[in-house]
Amino acid sequence: MRGSVIGTAVVTALASAGLGSAANITEWKSRSIYQVMIDRFARTDGSTDATCDVSRFCGGTWKGLLNNLDYIQDMGFTALQISPIVKNLEGHTAVGDAYHGYWSVDNYALNDRFGTKQDFEDLVSEVHKRDMFLMVDVVVNNMVQAFDNVVPPKIDYSKFNPFDDKKFFHSYCNVTEWKNSTNYQNCWLYPYGVALADLATETKPVADELGSWVKELVANYSIDGIRIDAAKHVNDAFLPGFVESSGVFALGEVLTGVPEDMCRYQTGGLLPGMPNYLEYYPLNEAFNDGSLVDLAEMRNNAASSCNDTTALGSFLENHDMPRFANRNDDIALAKNGMTYILLNDGIPTVYQGQEQHFKGNSTPFNREPLWSSKYDKESPLYVLTSTLNKVRNNAIKLSPDYVSTPSETLWADVNHLCLRKGPDGSQIVFCINNKSSQGDSYEVSVGGFQKNDKVVEVLTCKTNMADISGNVTMYMNKGEPKVYVPLAALDGTGLCEKTEEDRPSNGASALGLTGRMVVTAIIGWAVVFFA
Ligand SMILES: *[C@@H]1O[C@H](CO)[C@@H](O)[C@H](O)[C@H]1NC(C)=O
Ligand SMILES: *[C@@H]1O[C@H](CO)[C@@H](O)[C@H](O)[C@H]1NC(C)=O
Ligand SMILES: *[C@@H]1O[C@H](CO)[C@@H](O)[C@H](O)[C@H]1NC(C)=O
Ligand SMILES: *[C@@H]1O[C@H](CO)[C@@H](O)[C@H](O)[C@H]1NC(C)=O
Ligand SMILES: *[C@@H]1O[C@H](CO)[C@@H](O)[C@H](O)[C@H]1NC(C)=O
Ligand SMILES: *[C@@H]1O[C@H](CO)[C@@H](O)[C@H](O)[C@H]1NC(C)=O
Ligand SMILES: *[C@@H]1O[C@H](CO)[C@@H](O)[C@H](O)[C@H]1NC(C)=O
Repeated sequence: MRGSVIGTAVVTALASAGLGSAANITEWKSRSIYQVMIDRFARTDGSTDATCDVSRFCGGTWKGLLNNLDYIQDMGFTALQISPIVKNLEGHTAVGDAYHGYWSVDNYALNDRFGTKQDFEDLVSEVHKRDMFLMVDVVVNNMVQAFDNVVPPKIDYSKFNPFDDKKFFHSYCNVTEWKNSTNYQNCWLYPYGVALADLATETKPVADELGSWVKELVANYSIDGIRIDAAKHVNDAFLPGFVESSGVFALGEVLTGVPEDMCRYQTGGLLPGMPNYLEYYPLNEAFNDGSLVDLAEMRNNAASSCNDTTALGSFLENHDMPRFANRNDDIALAKNGMTYILLNDGIPTVYQGQEQHFKGNSTPFNREPLWSSKYDKESPLYVLTSTLNKVRNNAIKLSPDYVSTPSETLWADVNHLCLRKGPDGSQIVFCINNKSSQGDSYEVSVGGFQKNDKVVEVLTCKTNMADISGNVTMYMNKGEPKVYVPLAALDGTGLCEKTEEDRPSNGASALGLTGRMVVTAIIGWAVVFFA
């Protein structure tokens, strides 16, 4: 396939920089992550019948993932984040089965539901052979046992490995106060159907054990990074030592949309990075009757509150939140959301199924088996993701400063947000909008280039020239996002090998009208119509 040439070249350059050592924060910033829930990605036998109860095991395996890595790599991703790998609770509970991997019972055994040790090692070695990084999700807040909903939970601690005694845990209380950190860090989360026995991570034996465990896990399987589940629910002081023991970059889950609550983890040196929940909320609202000005404001707040927004994981969907299309399934809106997270500051993180425009609601309905899409590589969001990852990978290859250069806001209004990222020559200028596929045709003039730069809009391969002030005229239509780079930046990439000159893309061009005249014409009709 055309673009895969550049994808491979870029990742080779990136990977050779870090050969032989665990991946660090700088290396991770250049990556683009595809998030996999193993039970729902692919089965070993490749079967695609969609009949599966989403609260039970659906049969996905590490081998299934290995067999389908092309699907991910052809989209331009350079890293994987996978669901937890250790042995989990067996059997049915009132809140489903442990198909997601978050219900640890034995930290020292791999989850045989997903395959053998050999299968997992084969997966890691194939991921590395493709110069991709592997991030593994780890659970440190609790161990889990089935619960009959009679409090306090009756736990047989001897069943856990290694925390086989009550002394390693907080005594039971229910998390009820979400603004009281003692409460949400020391009490037990969601006691219903399963008991999430809360580890006393503030004690030395527990912290030391988890530290040596993660160090071994990373070393045994050559893991390149970790996601720390429920990082907000363990005590603060535990986190830096745990991350240091791992020896790799970590994204810690801190579920809050409040800048001061999230950014203190980074400014206080507790975590190097977090999934970017700050922008997640206003990004979603902007496409659901909100305004893009609110997203622009949150970007400024995040940039001033956090040390480094380029180390945050930029996302629109994950396995815990209703799908974007659950609220509004307009495809143009989804394209704008996807464009934003792939080109935003930070590490793009796309959750499996987002590229197939899945529509699932809250857990477990947001965990649809990916095989129901038949791994369609022609779906609009798959194609968009593939193009934009390759454009980003190319910008990184052209300039090592691309990822560390924070974006500049060129223009924001209620319907638009236009950003420029990267130094001259490798910059990407993009505009997202919330007009939807019903959007009108109009022109906007946006900066970010130098006088007379020849530029190309990478989603349509239409060329244009920057005016005397470095502005480019964008012909907006049907709510599509716009992404421009210098034409020369695409040389040798295989992207946009055929281009044509840009002009108004609606019926107007056929009539020989300019965009501005169209607006006038429509207003004219409206006057007649409503008169
Ligand atoms: C990360 O690793 C790369 C390659 O080994 C090295 O050049 C760079 O200095 C490291 N950066 C940090 C922040 O440790
Ligand atoms: C725990 O607290 C939540 C409210 O925060 C409540 O809905 C739930 O019923 C409580 N569960 C138990 C087992 O007490
Ligand atoms: C916070 O939660 C803890 C544990 O539940 C409780 O003991 C304490 O009283 C709470 N603090 C406040 C200020 O409510
Ligand atoms: C790592 O491998 C060693 C040697 O096989 C084993 O004893 C240890 O339990 C493993 N640790 C983990 C966390 O898997
Ligand atoms: C973040 O900023 C704080 C406060 O300026 C500083 O103490 C800390 O070292 C910085 N952390 C990192 C990882 O840069
Ligand atoms: C786009 O933004 C405008 C202005 O804030 C808002 O009225 C409109 O509902 C938004 N569109 C969508 C699809 O949410
Ligand atoms: C150039 O683009 C900027 C936004 O990037 C806009 O504010 C300005 O008005 C534009 N200039 C012209 C001459 O259109």
